[in-house]
Amino acid sequence: MRAVGVRERNGRPEVLRARRPEPGEGEVLVRVVAAGLNPLDWKIADGMLAETVPYDFPLVMGVDFAGTVEDSGAEAHRFARGEQVYGHVVSEPVGRGTYAEYVVVNETGSIAPAPLSLPLTAAAGAPTAGMTALGIMDAAALRSYESLLIIGAAGGVGTFLTQLAAAGGLRVLAATHGHDQARMAAFGAARTVDVREHGLAEAVRDEYPQGVDALVDLGSASREDFAAHAALVRDGGVAVSTLDAASVDALYGRGIEGINFHIAPSAELLERLGEEIDSGRVTVPIEAEVPLEEAPGAVARNRAGGARGKTVLVP
Ligand SMILES: NC(=O)c1ccc[n+]([C@@H]2O[C@H](COP(=O)([O-])OP(=O)(O)OC[C@H]3O[C@@H](n4cnc5c(N)ncnc54)[C@H](OP(=O)(O)O)[C@@H]3O)[C@@H](O)[C@H]2O)c1
Repeated sequence: MRAVGVRERNGRPEVLRARRPEPGEGEVLVRVVAAGLNPLDWKIADGMLAETVPYDFPLVMGVDFAGTVEDSGAEAHRFARGEQVYGHVVSEPVGRGTYAEYVVVNETGSIAPAPLSLPLTAAAGAPTAGMTALGIMDAAALRSYESLLIIGAAGGVGTFLTQLAAAGGLRVLAATHGHDQARMAAFGAARTVDVREHGLAEAVRDEYPQGVDALVDLGSASREDFAAHAALVRDGGVAVSTLDAASVDALYGRGIEGINFHIAPSAELLERLGEEIDSGRVTVPIEAEVPLEEAPGAVARNRAGGARGKTVLVP
C-alpha cells in the first residue's frame, strides 16, 4: 500500500510502499479516508518515544485517522465492517502509522464511531487536538474559572480549546502570531492579541490588572518563556503547558497550580469529542486537505510553523 514515513530516526519523510497490515487478535483494520497531521507526528519520527517504545523502520508516520472498518481480527467484535470510525493510534513498536491507505487499531484503544455531522476528511483533523483540548479543560478544571489566556490559540489545539472554553462560559484571550481577530472571534474568543504587533503583558494587564485566572501555553518550549506568560496569571490561578515547560514548584509558591499536561487518549474522550462536534459546539477547523503523496511537504510546513487549524492527508 502507499504510505509516507521515514527510513531512520530524524529521517526525511518520503513516499513509501509498505505492506498492508493484517488485523491481529482484538484489532480492526481501518481503510484510511484521511489522516490528521499533528506536530506529534514529526516529533515521534525524530525519536520522541525512542527511550520508552521500540521503533520499526521504515516507520509509517501519523497518529490521527478517520476511515471505515474493513476487517476485524479474532476476538474483535466492537465494530462492524463498513462502520465509520475515527481515532488516535500509536503502534508498538512505533511505525504502523496513519499516513497510509490502511492502519490497524486495537479495538479497546482510542477508536470510536466518527461524528455524524461532518465528512470523514474533516473528522480526521479532530482526534489529537480535540482530545488534548478536552483533557486540558478537565485536568485544569477550567470551567471553574472566568478568564483564560491561550498562547498559540490559532493552531490545532488552540482552536479546539478556544471553542470549548468559550462554550463553557470562559472569557478567552487568544494570543496568536498574526492577524487572526475575525477567525478567533468566530471561535468565541473575546479578544485576540497578535503578539508580533502588540505587547501581550500590556494587553492582559489592561483588562486584568491582577492577572487572568488561567493560562494554557501551547507555544513555549522553554521554562523562561512559560514563566513570562505565567507571570500574567493571578495568584491562586492555574497555568498549563503542553510542552513540559511549567516549573510546578516555582508556581506553587504563588498559589498557582502548574500543570505539565500529557494527552491520555481514550474511546470515551473521542465519544465526548464527537458529541461536542455533533451538537455544533465545536467545529473542526480544516486549514488544508492534501493528497497523501504531498505529505512530506505538509510535514515540512508544519515544522516551519504558522498552523491555522488542521491539515489532513488524503490517500
Ligand atoms: N503534551 C501533550 O499531550 C500535547 C498534545 C497535543 C499537542 N502538544 C504540543 O502542543 C503544541 C501545540 O500543538 P498544536 O497541535 O496546536 O500545534 P500547531 O497546530 O502547530 O499550532 C501551534 C500554534 O501556536 C502558535 N504559537 C506558537 N508560539 C506562540 C506564541 N509565543 N505566541 C502566539 N502564538 C504562538 C503557532 O504560530 P507560529 O507557528 O506562527 O508560531 C501556531 O499557530 C505542539 O508543540 C504540540 O506538539 C502536546
